[in-house]
Amino acid sequence: MSKFYITTPIYYVNDEPHLGHAYTTILADTLARYHRLFGEDVFFLTGLDEHGQKVQQAAQRRGIPPQQHCDEMAERFVGLWRRLSVSNDDFLRTTQKRHVKAVQRFLQVLYDRGEIYKAPYEGWYCIPDERFWTEKDLTDGKCPECGRPVVRLSEDNYFFKMGKHQDWLVRHIEEHPDFIMPEARRNEILGFLKKPLGDLCISRPKARLSWGIPLPFDPDYVTYVWVDALTNYISAIGIYEDEVRFCRWWPADLHLIGKDILMTHAVYWPTMLHAAGIEPPLHIFAHGWWLLEEQKMSKSRGKVVQPLELIERYGPDAFRYFLMREMAPGQDSNFGEEALVARYNSDLANDLGNLLSRVVRMIKQCTQGRIPSPGREEPLDRELREETLKAAGKVRGRIEDLRVDLALEEAVEIARRVNRYLERTAPWKLHKEGKGDRVGTVLYFSAEVLRILGDILEPVMPGKAVELKYQLGVSSKGRWEERVLWGVLEPGTTAPGGPPLFPRVRLEERKEEAYITLEEFQRLDIRVGEVTSAGSVQGTRKLLRLEVDLGGEKRQLVAGLAEHYAPEDLVGRKVIVLANLKPARIRGVESQGMLLAADDGKNLALIVPDREVGSGARVR
Ligand code: ME8
Ligand code: MG
Repeated sequence: MSKFYITTPIYYVNDEPHLGHAYTTILADTLARYHRLFGEDVFFLTGLDEHGQKVQQAAQRRGIPPQQHCDEMAERFVGLWRRLSVSNDDFLRTTQKRHVKAVQRFLQVLYDRGEIYKAPYEGWYCIPDERFWTEKDLTDGKCPECGRPVVRLSEDNYFFKMGKHQDWLVRHIEEHPDFIMPEARRNEILGFLKKPLGDLCISRPKARLSWGIPLPFDPDYVTYVWVDALTNYISAIGIYEDEVRFCRWWPADLHLIGKDILMTHAVYWPTMLHAAGIEPPLHIFAHGWWLLEEQKMSKSRGKVVQPLELIERYGPDAFRYFLMREMAPGQDSNFGEEALVARYNSDLANDLGNLLSRVVRMIKQCTQGRIPSPGREEPLDRELREETLKAAGKVRGRIEDLRVDLALEEAVEIARRVNRYLERTAPWKLHKEGKGDRVGTVLYFSAEVLRILGDILEPVMPGKAVELKYQLGVSSKGRWEERVLWGVLEPGTTAPGGPPLFPRVRLEERKEEAYITLEEFQRLDIRVGEVTSAGSVQGTRKLLRLEVDLGGEKRQLVAGLAEHYAPEDLVGRKVIVLANLKPARIRGVESQGMLLAADDGKNLALIVPDREVGSGARVR
């Protein structure tokens, strides 16, 4: 069985995940799922880059230890990946012991091989990018990568003899045309390598930066965050720990990255590996950027799209579909919610969703809700069958070429073809004319193509694809060859149908929904209450059980306050309670309402009346 080891960059935890991170991860997930479907043994790695100045500063700003900051951010990333059904096989965090050990072993190997030396260093440093630049690298005295100001630094440091591997690297790139993809990126690197390649500073004095992996041969220094981060691709698969495992997966088949980090992946990483006696990865693919108003989405510039809101609005599968369909990997794309809504309505609601509803409805009306037996095949039917299987083959080819966008275009075209087939065969007319046999054939063919479409789209929309097939009464599993073939639907089985797969959405409607009416607000019964007793809820860290007097009426509430308030400080205080929230049992304790508090993600503050007011007073 052939193997497929695919990776994403490990993202910085200096801020929350944004659309760009979601894109790379979903693209990697989609490819991983397709390759599994193609019968390959897949290892899909993603994770987090937790060391370095940016992360240390982010933690400082929040006034918490860096590890705590990393742990909290890790939850955000993991939560988002779960919400998006990302099927990674491992999740590497650079603060994990296994990684720290591997980085130190890797550096020791380089050191022992004479690939590292110590020297004074003077240069320009871009703090947000964590990159040193020489005088001539700078653009108008600023960082050539991001255009932000740089600072002058002078200190002793350790260097990797990167320059001495330049000739090898150039030869390797020339002999392996698809080592760096797409071609424009390959040319960019080859162009860069026309100039002499310098050595790479791989250390930071601990005095200046403590949040990093100590160098194994000099504890006064920590490892440059990029050396630390790149090593994740080999630490995760057990280099120096489990040789069998390492040899099973390495070299990586595909490092998927954004073009912002091409240099580190296409120059630093292969030369480091080569120096350590390790093969380079097979392919590096650098995709383009999602732009907002023609500029790169960037968390350090505060121009980002938060994926969660879009996922709530349109669902994780439609969100995945849009990102995969809209961007030609390799090129930049402008992000706009209007485009998302347009795609959703045309491809998903119209071409695919309506088709499914239509076919299921006719099966209900014409063949008692059961998959009919196909009768004699006519030319139109044969054409549909052949075209579908041919298109499926093209989808596979597009995926192998990393053109998920074109694969999806091809897939949606299959749905459009069925729609045309239905127009031409008009089974509703045939039904009226009593041509039951012919109706059965047409409906079988339509349903079977939809089933195949469900199987083809499953790696992109894992949830909706299963739902689609469920509506047709199947749950096909197995490899591509066992799914992309004719005749899987069994005549006689019930097609249960279901709600619209992709209900139409409207952008304007959504904007109106952002308002609530006065009547809606007045349904909330919000009242002032006085805490009469408070204690922790057994077996929980965060929950408190409170008794509150709402002006003669006693309520028991469970609230997530334990990390912010001591129970004894709450007794006797006036608080604000949503009194007509449906009661719920939380950890076995009934909660009869909700305490109102403000939460900025860091601090939590109870809302309290700012002067004396009686218990039970209504908040309006
Ligand atoms: O660079 N459009 O982490 P990072 C598309 N920790 N993709 C985007 C994007 C955009 N506007 N913005 C970000 C790092 N990305 C290092 C990587 S790897 C050993 C270490 C995606 O949090 C894209 O994949 O800045 C890009 O390469 C990555 O996020 C950078 O994430
Ligand atoms: Mg970045």
